[in-house]
Amino acid sequence: MGGGEPEDGGISLQPAIERVSRDIDAQFSHLLAIPDDSRARLFEAMRHAVIGGGKRLRPLLVQATCDLFNIDPAAALRVGVAIECIHVYSLIHDDLPCMDDDDIRRGKPTVHRQFDEATAVLAGDSLHALAFEVLGSEQTHRDPFVRAELMVELARAAGPSGMAGGQMMDLEAEAASLDLATVTRLQQLKTGALISFCLEAGAIMAHVPPESRTGLRGYARDIGLAFQIADDLLDVEGDELRAGKALHKDARAGKETFVSLLGVQRAREQAKMLIQQAKDHLHIYGAEANLLRSIADYVIGRDR
Ligand code: IPE
Ligand code: IPE
Ligand code: MG
Ligand code: MG
Ligand code: MG
Repeated sequence: MGGGEPEDGGISLQPAIERVSRDIDAQFSHLLAIPDDSRARLFEAMRHAVIGGGKRLRPLLVQATCDLFNIDPAAALRVGVAIECIHVYSLIHDDLPCMDDDDIRRGKPTVHRQFDEATAVLAGDSLHALAFEVLGSEQTHRDPFVRAELMVELARAAGPSGMAGGQMMDLEAEAASLDLATVTRLQQLKTGALISFCLEAGAIMAHVPPESRTGLRGYARDIGLAFQIADDLLDVEGDELRAGKALHKDARAGKETFVSLLGVQRAREQAKMLIQQAKDHLHIYGAEANLLRSIADYVIGRDR
């Protein structure tokens, strides 16, 4: 599956994915013009990682949330660039020999394979910094309080209470046998936190008060978990060419995942249940949330 007409009559997903992918590529191409000095290799490595690949799920989520509140699409795109910077930095470092030691990402050699380890570390560092430079710019939002809130939320989602913390737990998972509650917590941090930021960002830009963000937060939590269950299912039964990365790695590493704990069948049922629950969280919105509904279906219907 990938972008057929969603069952709830939502907006067709494929054109939205294509548009956001094109826009994100153009932004990165502009931001990462290769300098005429010895930093060229660093820029080439960053471009290799961020241009022309990936599903662009996170920028799409930002765009879809901003659409709910009629936020300027150009501002949404900048936030999409920022979250994609953090996501790709996390992938570059995740693939390093000291972590998952992978050779292929998004159907291409990983950054440390195409370039070298030191360059990969620096490309990740630089994307991490670029995310906050983009968010902090006046072009992203004219209200400085909004910019500050976006930066604090992204920092929280990326750091030890978010993605990096989840990655630590994930490494520890190789040596421990974890229960379902711990795996859920791990995955909420590792994958869920950055996905939640995408929804939160739209609410922040629209000055939605925190008490009115409950539905969006519930949606984000549920699709985040379902997304990681889908990743774990793909690891077991996906196609490497289609996925663009090495699979069958979790079991080999002795990692406890939803699939190892529940089995394929129950993990898939759990993911489906979460997606229904995610869509239920959107009940206060009308047709303006149809893209978010379609994205929820895509999260578990995807084959890459
Ligand atoms: C892969 O993320 C890493 C996880 C958090 C599971 P994606 O599946 O979104 O990777 P890309 O962006 O499409 O390459
Ligand atoms: C990595 O999770 C998630 C982050 C980079 C935060 P995985 O190690 O499962 O991702 P893949 O399977 O390599 O894409
Ligand atoms: Mg990993
Ligand atoms: Mg990995
Ligand atoms: Mg994985």
